[in-house]
Amino acid sequence: MSSRRDFMGMALGGFAALGGIAALYAAKKTWDPLPSVKAGGFTTIDLSVAKENELVIEKWRGKPIFILKKSASMPKDNREIVIGGNRYLVAIGLCTHLGCIPAYLPNDLMFKCACHGGEFDSNGKQTFGPPPRPLDIPPFKINGTSLVLGETGPEYEKMLANKLTQSV
Ligand code: FES
Repeated sequence: MSSRRDFMGMALGGFAALGGIAALYAAKKTWDPLPSVKAGGFTTIDLSVAKENELVIEKWRGKPIFILKKSASMPKDNREIVIGGNRYLVAIGLCTHLGCIPAYLPNDLMFKCACHGGEFDSNGKQTFGPPPRPLDIPPFKINGTSLVLGETGPEYEKMLANKLTQSV
């Protein structure tokens, strides 16, 4: 009897360990940055390997940069970047209230800031709480399927002219 219980305990323990490893692997995949090259204050990010509704956080000039490839069901927005027919939110990942880093909730398609409860939709627009404006958009230039952060291309200039972003 005890050997049967031992076996069940070991089997359950093994199952739990496997679940833990799978969860860690999934988390690590989410944290893995996209292929990028950093040089002279510019960061070139290959967006072709981004996955829908999976937030990637890059770093540019000491700031977190959110990159979210949108799925077809996500609403269109005049601040999104279109590359190769795919739509992306690219924004500085600092809450526009007091600068905390909001978390992305993929099931709710929104960002939530733990500091004072601010919320942003999947377009980076504030929807609740104290944030006074949408997430800022860093200067960018589109180069094929890549995004060059730190350079200003015509798409960014247009957003700037239409007051759709905050310059940094
Ligand atoms: S810093 Fe995000 S809500 Fe205050």
